[in-house]
Amino acid sequence: VHAAVAAGAGHRRRRVLLLPLPLQGHINPMFHLASVLHARGFAVTVFHLQPAGVNAPDASLHPAFDFVAVPADGDGDGAGGDYLEATLAGILDVNRRCEAPFRERLAALLEEAAPAGGGDVACLVADAHLLTLMDVARRLGVPTLALRTGSAASFRVFAAHRMLRDMGYLPARESELDAPVTVLPPAPYRVRDVMLTAGFGGHAQDQIYELVSRAVEAVRTSSGLILNTFDALEHDELAALRRDLDVPVFDVGPLHKLSPTAPPSSLLRQDRGCLEWLDSQAPASVLYVSFGSIASVSAGELVEAAWGIANSGHPFLWVLRPGLVRGAAAAAALPDGFDAATRGRGEVVSWAPQEEVLAHPATAAFWTHCGWNSTLESVCAGVPMLLRPCFGDQPGNARYAERVWRAGLALDGGGGELERGKVEAAIRRLMEEDDGAGMRRRAGELKSRAAECITKAGSSCLIIDKLGAARSRADA
Ligand code: UDX
Repeated sequence: VHAAVAAGAGHRRRRVLLLPLPLQGHINPMFHLASVLHARGFAVTVFHLQPAGVNAPDASLHPAFDFVAVPADGDGDGAGGDYLEATLAGILDVNRRCEAPFRERLAALLEEAAPAGGGDVACLVADAHLLTLMDVARRLGVPTLALRTGSAASFRVFAAHRMLRDMGYLPARESELDAPVTVLPPAPYRVRDVMLTAGFGGHAQDQIYELVSRAVEAVRTSSGLILNTFDALEHDELAALRRDLDVPVFDVGPLHKLSPTAPPSSLLRQDRGCLEWLDSQAPASVLYVSFGSIASVSAGELVEAAWGIANSGHPFLWVLRPGLVRGAAAAAALPDGFDAATRGRGEVVSWAPQEEVLAHPATAAFWTHCGWNSTLESVCAGVPMLLRPCFGDQPGNARYAERVWRAGLALDGGGGELERGKVEAAIRRLMEEDDGAGMRRRAGELKSRAAECITKAGSSCLIIDKLGAARSRADA
């Protein structure tokens, strides 16, 4: 990295190209990585893929980065089904439809860099779901690094997916969802935690297998895997990955803490008024509730969640984003009587500045869908979690939070239907009882470990140094 930074200081900066998948949970860590690399002397170009219906990141918020828009060719495959399944289909679709436009734009950028010696471009960091586009870059002579936005543990599940099928764990049988999976030690998984198809209709299974095996191939054919995690959080999982993968693994997280001044890369408008509302609440009193950018609930579950929250008696800040309730495109409607029952102690917004909400002293606990970004953000803020995973990697994240870090409580053991009495009891347990206090204490310990790993001599900073050095070698 020193060579690269020195080059940045004296001459033209070495340039890193970034290629995020255009979904919120994937864009956020990529933009944080961009800020970290930029602060270390690299010039940054972001290729942003533009399938129809997806907001583009606001380039004006990131004047230090160059942006190249990549339109999608032709029509989408018109995948029906629900939002989740459409999102899955969209990932394959964006690979296919952006291939030619991306090739054209990358070739033009390389040609422009050529008179300056060609060595201007250090590498492309691409989301691991963009295998087709990573292949394009490699064929044009650009070394690639794969960013996987989930945990180390979840990538290990991805890499073991074929084995889990060969061994008969998968496809999961209803009667064996709670059977232990013993072949991925030390993770305390059950079948339901590794199936990756939870939350999807049965017919999405083949699509998920395809996505997973493409992501694994993208990593195996790259020059290295970048993970938004840190050693003290996932030491054993990282060691296992390093043992099993032939490419170097760079655990450079928590990226949002390494780039705390980065402007938000939110695709939705954040309602910052809720921070003022939090200012008016007592310290460690508020339950923050959010299910991320993709997960959805049924209308019935929303009603049960609402009454569980209301009956717990605790103040709450709830993100009800448009599209959260399956089958209702508009904002979710809360049940009659809910407003009156919670007057004065609740705030509902359609999108929140989540990192700031979690860091706010009034926030006591986080009811989360266990997306990896949310999980990591909660860990780094020292906030214990009420765990209600929905799909994909989320059940595995929840299992880790509950059983390994012991900083969260699984709502209804993970599997069953939401029911208001259980929701209320779980909120009370987390926010009022002794074992909840233990979870809060352990969450606080994780926060300290996260803070340590981003100090100058901390594990993640040292790994970022190595990452810079690796890129210099790739250029040589
Ligand atoms: C998805 C998957 O769920 C996740 O498991 C995978 O690892 C990445 O892609 P998503 O479902 O959106 O992501 O969840 P999550 O990973 O938690 O990311 C959501 C992001 O949106 C977080 O960075 C969070 O801070 C942000 N957010 C969420 C907001 O800024 N405001 C909100 O109101 C809610």
